[in-house]
Amino acid sequence: MPRRLERGARLVLASHNPGKLAEIAALLAPHGITAASAAALGLPEPEEDAPDFSGNARLKALAAARAANLPALADDSGFCVAALAGRPGIHSARWAGPRRDFSAAMARVQSEIGENPDRSAWFICALALAWPDGHTETFVGRIDGSAIWPPRGTNGFGYDPMFVPSGKTHTFGEMTAAEKEADTHRARAFAALRAACLAPLSSAADRETNNATRGNATNRQ
Ligand code: IMP
Repeated sequence: MPRRLERGARLVLASHNPGKLAEIAALLAPHGITAASAAALGLPEPEEDAPDFSGNARLKALAAARAANLPALADDSGFCVAALAGRPGIHSARWAGPRRDFSAAMARVQSEIGENPDRSAWFICALALAWPDGHTETFVGRIDGSAIWPPRGTNGFGYDPMFVPSGKTHTFGEMTAAEKEADTHRARAFAALRAACLAPLSSAADRETNNATRGNATNRQ
């Protein structure tokens, strides 16, 4: 049985990214959970040195839960390419360098794929919920598609302009935020976390949240 967060719980969001913080706080609010950011509580950012997404999400969540003595939620995500044996993977942000140059990161992906005809790619998001006693629950969402070249679209962030989800014709970079967020690796991971660990929504709040996230799938690890 997964451990649940009850209504009225306070949670630390172990991320220093303001976009992610706002998005996750909005998803938690209808479940009666209030969230404070690790930055607002002055918590340090631990080294992300685990070998996989789940491990990195867990170590960030555990560090925040122990430092704040509250349950904490962390995420780790990235872009994986079959022809590159899953790289850049957990190094997705690092491939963009200190200047966060994702045009350069996408060009490196294209150059390393080279003539390989296998253009399969996917995004992964791991969400970890940790408690100060060391208990953790981890959820993984994945969305499959193709790495295209040249990149298309200026919306979104990171590797969005070179990723077309299976069954779609537009890249994430050509989709509106609502179109993209309707079905992403993050939406899928959050839907799994919500089903396992959060109090059920009232039907009105449920409708609101579904309109906001339209997430699906339950890929729990
Ligand atoms: P982190 O989880 O904040 O370390 O981010 C990992 C990196 O993965 C980001 O900097 C992006 O490069 C990439 N990434 C994760 N999710 C997405 C997405 O939805 N679109 C595009 N790039 C993403």
